[in-house]
Amino acid sequence: MRFTRRAAVAAVGIAALLTAGACGSGDEGGDGSGSTKVEVFTWWADGGEKAGLDGLVSAFGTACAGQTFENGAVAGGAGANAKSVLASRLQQNDPPDTFQAHAGAELLDYIDAGQVEDISADYDSWGLKQAFPQGLIDNLTVDGKIYSVPANIHRANVVWSNKKVTAAAGITTDPKDLTEFFAALDKLKTKGVTPLAIGKDWTQLMLFESVLITDLGPEKFTGLWNGTTPWTDPGVAKGIADFKRLLTYTNKDRDALDWTDAEKLVMDGKAGYQLMGDWEAADLDAKGFKDYGFFTFPGNGTTFQWLADSFVLPKGAKNAEGTKCWLKTVGSAEGQKAFNTKKGSIPARTDAAPADYPKYQQAAMADWKSAKQVPSCAHGAGCSQGWQGAANSALGAYSTKQDDAALTKALVAAAEQFGKKK
Ligand code: BGC
Repeated sequence: MRFTRRAAVAAVGIAALLTAGACGSGDEGGDGSGSTKVEVFTWWADGGEKAGLDGLVSAFGTACAGQTFENGAVAGGAGANAKSVLASRLQQNDPPDTFQAHAGAELLDYIDAGQVEDISADYDSWGLKQAFPQGLIDNLTVDGKIYSVPANIHRANVVWSNKKVTAAAGITTDPKDLTEFFAALDKLKTKGVTPLAIGKDWTQLMLFESVLITDLGPEKFTGLWNGTTPWTDPGVAKGIADFKRLLTYTNKDRDALDWTDAEKLVMDGKAGYQLMGDWEAADLDAKGFKDYGFFTFPGNGTTFQWLADSFVLPKGAKNAEGTKCWLKTVGSAEGQKAFNTKKGSIPARTDAAPADYPKYQQAAMADWKSAKQVPSCAHGAGCSQGWQGAANSALGAYSTKQDDAALTKALVAAAEQFGKKK
C-alpha cells in the first residue's frame, strides 16, 4: 500500500493522473483554547521567499479579520533546518497552527504518520476542486482524502546566469545540451571565474537530478522514484560521470554554502552559472539584481521538474478556525497572486492572468502547460523525507570523496529502503 501510493505520486506528471473521489471526515484540529494567533511555520525568512510570504500575510490580513499571523519561519534553504525543528515539535505534540509541506511523497510522510487533518470538506466549501487542475487534485488525494492546500508550482531544473559574466567570456547563446554546456563552462574557466556556483548537499542533489533527466530522459528519470528504473541503469552511471565532470567547474567551498551564498557568487560576478529552483528569480528581483538570464538545464529539453509548496492543518493545531482561514487564503485567487508574483513560482490555480506576473513566471506558466512533468526529490515531490535525507548524505559524501561505486551503492540502498513497502 505504502509503495503503491508513493509510486502513484512519483510516477506521474500532475496533468496525467486519474480522478479519485474525495470525502470529508469533518475531523477538526484544535484544543478549544480560543487562540486567534495563527503560527505559520515555513523556511521563508529572507529575500524573495520572505517577499512571497509577506504577500500572503497581507492577503490573510484582508480576508481573516480578527486573526493574527505569527511568523514561525526557521531560515535555511529547502527547509534544511526547519524540517528537523518541525519533526521534533510534531513529536512533542507541539505543532504550529500550519506548516509548509511539499506536495507529493513528502506530504505522504505526514499523512502516514497521522500528523495532519483531512480537509476534503473545506475543499468543497471553498470551491478548490474547481480552482486547481484535476491532475493536481489527484496528486493531492490519498485514499479519497485531501490534506493540504497548494500555494504554487515551482520549477527546479533551471540554470541562472550572470549575463555580463557570460558575455565577457564570449558565450553568445544558452547551451542546449551537455556538450555545449561544458564548452561554455570552459570559456568561463579561462576567464578566471567560477563557471558553476553550487552549495551544499541538497543543491548538489538538484544538480545531479538535472543531469539524470538529461542522461535518462524524463520517463526513465521518473522511474527512479517509482521503482520502474533501477539505480543500476547505465544512464545513472553516465549521469554520475557527467556530474563528476560538472563538479570540477564548481567552487571548492561548496559544502559550506547555502543556495543564497552560491547565488551571491553569481550576483557578484564571481561565477557564471548556478542551477537552482525558480525561487531564485524572485530572490534576484528582491535583491535588485537585473542582469540575469535563465534557461532549462542543458539536455532536459522541455521537461519541467516540478515541486509545490502546500499548507496543512496539523492535528492538535491550537487555532483550527484561524488556520482554516489561512488555508482558504492560500488557495484563493487573491492569495495566490499576492504570493506567487513575489515568490518566483506560478499559481497552482488555473484562473490566474499571466499578464499580472513578472517575465520569468510568464515563461514558466507557458511551459507548465506544454512541458513533460517530472517530480523533484530534493524538494519532496518524488521521494519521501527519509529517501531525500539518504540522497543528500550520499551526495554530500560524494562531494568529498568522489567515489562513484559508493554513490551508486548508497543510491541503490536508499531506493531499496525507502522506495518499497517496509
Ligand atoms: C521550497 C521553496 C523554497 C526553496 C529554497 C524549496 O524546498 O519549496 O519554496 O524557496 O526550498 O528554500
